[in-house]
Amino acid sequence: MPKIKIAPSILSADYGDLNHFLQGLEPFSDIFHVDVMDGNFVPNLSIGAPVVACIKTTIPLDCHLMVLNPERYFESFAKAGAHSIIIHVESSKNMKKDIEKIQSLGCDAGVAINPSTSVSKLEKILPLVDQVLVMSVNPGFGGQPFMAEVLPKISWIREHYPNLDIAVDGGIDDKTAVYAKAAGANIFVAGNYILKDDNPKEAAEKLRKAVI
Ligand code: DX5
Ligand code: ZN
Repeated sequence: MPKIKIAPSILSADYGDLNHFLQGLEPFSDIFHVDVMDGNFVPNLSIGAPVVACIKTTIPLDCHLMVLNPERYFESFAKAGAHSIIIHVESSKNMKKDIEKIQSLGCDAGVAINPSTSVSKLEKILPLVDQVLVMSVNPGFGGQPFMAEVLPKISWIREHYPNLDIAVDGGIDDKTAVYAKAAGANIFVAGNYILKDDNPKEAAEKLRKAVI
């Protein structure tokens, strides 16, 4: 089982004070998860590469692209400092080409899968990726309830890829993370649970203790 990692999702952060806020969370975080939404692939808008370029942190940034035509943006996110670029199996027109392009830019490549998409859609691409991100809500918004029906998908991936980084994203708290860990996830993305807490550092620590 790969290393357990806690990944606060900055979607729920105060963007007006982002760097200050993230600096405080650095000692409690392994990854900062950055949600990129285009208002087309998902019914919401968030941020693009220019904002990512302004983030000053030593923590790796995983950019989760919830966009149509993701290939248009790989170079700008790589230049902006993304450590990983995660694309959706539902929006990529050529997964193999996209994954290879991301890796050729010096970034890790991840594939994300929506709750209603069958894991069979990933079978061919999993040997090529650095990370798989299993959505445990329908993408687009923070603060939605965890969908336990995605757990068998995580178990299937872990069974076939014992060393792969498996992230779970959506509705993660100190209780749902335990189910996701038992299924085989090792990266826990959490937006509201950490960032909307009165004490985000304590919430991040509580989440880590639940899964360590
Ligand atoms: C949802 C995003 C998530 C979101 C999670 O579309 O991909 O990363 O920030 O937020 P919570 O943890 O509040 O469900
Ligand atoms: Zn996300």
